[in-house]
Amino acid sequence: MLALVVTVGRADAELASDELWSLGVIAIEERYDTETGVVELWTSLGDDVETVAMSLSGLDHEWSWRFEAVDERVSETWREHAVPTWVTHRLMVYPAWQRRPDVGDVVAIAIEPGATFGMGDHPTTVLSMRALQAAVAPGVTVLDVGCGSGVLAIAACLFGASYSDAIDISPAAVPTTRDNAVCNGVADRVRVSTTPLREVDGRYDVVVANILAPALIELAADLKRVLAIGGQLIVSGILADRHAHVLRSLAPLNLVARDDLGGWTAITLGA
Ligand SMILES: C[S@@+](CC[C@H](N)C(=O)[O-])C[C@H]1O[C@@H](n2cnc3c(N)ncnc32)[C@H](O)[C@@H]1O
Repeated sequence: MLALVVTVGRADAELASDELWSLGVIAIEERYDTETGVVELWTSLGDDVETVAMSLSGLDHEWSWRFEAVDERVSETWREHAVPTWVTHRLMVYPAWQRRPDVGDVVAIAIEPGATFGMGDHPTTVLSMRALQAAVAPGVTVLDVGCGSGVLAIAACLFGASYSDAIDISPAAVPTTRDNAVCNGVADRVRVSTTPLREVDGRYDVVVANILAPALIELAADLKRVLAIGGQLIVSGILADRHAHVLRSLAPLNLVARDDLGGWTAITLGA
């Protein structure tokens, strides 16, 4: 198994971590070298050099990075410390390897992230799920762009969507989303693939994309194209101080709602 090691100056460590989180990493370990003043961010984006290079090229900054071989047993210790996440008082996401928490009549989504992003605990995912809960009415159709573990596509079905189509550039997202859909009883309503957004020809009542702002801007024309008339587009993965240029790229859609959490912003747009 390969760890991705991103090297930055101390002042950039937080920004680089934020950008890595929204690329889809599950955990980051910071190693600070007191002699050189350099911080190494140890994480993983899978073992495919080309895919990792492509993901990193979508970042706002060019950080220096390398791969290091790591012992898989050590890299799995985060699982022992994983805890359920309350998204709202009616919705929880919990690690699939734990027992369903005894929380009564709430929607509880079991997630195994595998090699993808989407344990449900990242602020951008929490914000996306809150916005989905508000936007999804019974019977609507949903497109989840950048589905990772499939947590948003699955949540949409549990909120009453007739089905969710889920796409991601990462091949790992396909089996992981499929397994998580089975585990949550919505396998017949979640369809997942690596189809690029530009090749999606359907129209959806709700489109959700929890992807970094630069990628959202690049995808803006297609995100608008796949939205059905009267539909709602939810975009997350935006650092709070950078939402204005994402909004501009999505014009003439108008702001319907905005929600902030931990320095991140999600916006819902409609005609
Ligand atoms: C921040 S993760 C979100 C995962 C999950 N939807 C969630 O909310 O937890 C972003 C995901 O978008 C995917 N991604 C990045 N650029 C993409 C693109 N252009 N098209 C489709 N997926 C993309 C990444 O592979 C990653 O799985």
